[in-house]
Amino acid sequence: MKNNIATLTGPFTQIITMQNTPLRGPVAEHHLHIVNNAWIAWSEGRIGQIGQYKELLEYYSDYTLNINEINQSSVLMPGWIDCHTHICYGGHRMEDYSKRLEGKTYLQIAKEGGGINRSVRDTRSATDSILLESLMRRLAEMGQEGVTTVEVKSGYGLNVEDEIRMLRIIHEADRISKINIIPTCLAAHMKPFDFQGNNSNYLNILSNELLPWIKRENLSSRVDIFIEDTAFSPRESLEYLMRAKAMGFDLTIHGDQFTTGGSQVAVQVNANSVDHLEASGDEEIQMLAKSNTVAVVLPGASLGLGMPFAPMRKLLDQGCCVAIASDWNPGSAPMGHLLTAASIMSAYEKISIPEIMAGITVRAAHALKLKDRAIIEKDRRADLVSFPTNDYREIFYRQGRINPSSIWIGGIQLEKIN
Ligand code: NIG
Ligand code: FE
Repeated sequence: MKNNIATLTGPFTQIITMQNTPLRGPVAEHHLHIVNNAWIAWSEGRIGQIGQYKELLEYYSDYTLNINEINQSSVLMPGWIDCHTHICYGGHRMEDYSKRLEGKTYLQIAKEGGGINRSVRDTRSATDSILLESLMRRLAEMGQEGVTTVEVKSGYGLNVEDEIRMLRIIHEADRISKINIIPTCLAAHMKPFDFQGNNSNYLNILSNELLPWIKRENLSSRVDIFIEDTAFSPRESLEYLMRAKAMGFDLTIHGDQFTTGGSQVAVQVNANSVDHLEASGDEEIQMLAKSNTVAVVLPGASLGLGMPFAPMRKLLDQGCCVAIASDWNPGSAPMGHLLTAASIMSAYEKISIPEIMAGITVRAAHALKLKDRAIIEKDRRADLVSFPTNDYREIFYRQGRINPSSIWIGGIQLEKIN
């Protein structure tokens, strides 16, 4: 009796398994553990064997087979993980961008009615269905690039009801999209324009009312805060984060974007990750290297703001675990193309192709505490992406120009994507 179904797909010129990729420090090609000219099998959404076609036929002789022959040179790699985005929002911030190109700074523009508060107004006034539709559209764009897991933050509601509304919409998107979504509560993005009271009053409301509600409804297991002169101070943040931690939330932090202080708090609270780090200096880098906190660099924010990149080379050389994410948001990172942003940064920062790959697979999964994906090995999720080339380096060499030929999430192929 052939009860089980297995899908055999191949042949691939290269399967980049990522099996020997270290969690920290520099990455070389041998860490990618590349298997040449092989087929792959999966069953019930989980990866099975990698090998020659005949071997797999034999191995799966008890299965009903679904054979998927690829007729062009292709490279297979794990689906990418974008571990930091803000893609649930209403409106846009084209005025901000235009003003920046005219020479104004991010912080100046915020003071003139742009910035995060602009998106808060637009998000609050957008209907649920508009927010959901635009979120789904952005997810579809990311899916086409090869991203199979996406972290999505709230953070443009900035009151209890609107933050809950955002998180529910993010959940709904997760339910209807093939892409996996990891929701994060970023109600502590900044104190919104209409809140009467100081930062501590605002954070108290979040920890007394919002976080318990999120727990009850199981809307997110992660809490984020923006530590910055214009948002929350390290001291205010520490207190909020300790409370969130005591409630069982995992922590992540927007830190060291314009000024330092955030990474120190991240290490103090043992956060999963601290993201941005454009302003981090040697002291911060050394501190992160000694910690368990993942350093997440966001080249899309540097490209959107016209500011220097985070010191990824130094972070790696000091032994940090460094992930790369898009930070796609309407303000600082409007491009939202992970591969393009990462490829351009790597040319400036001297990041090797294996290091970029680790940053958008294994290390991004680690930032999100996901242990079931990001490596092509038996029993992991069959979240996979193939590219029409015979050399994986071409994907990064062309800096985002080459689109995937196929994408599978949990073993299910996304619709024709080109
Ligand atoms: O990651 N730095 C804070 N938050 C976002 C920007 C959000 C916005 O400008 O809307 C970021 O860059
Ligand atoms: Fe961000």
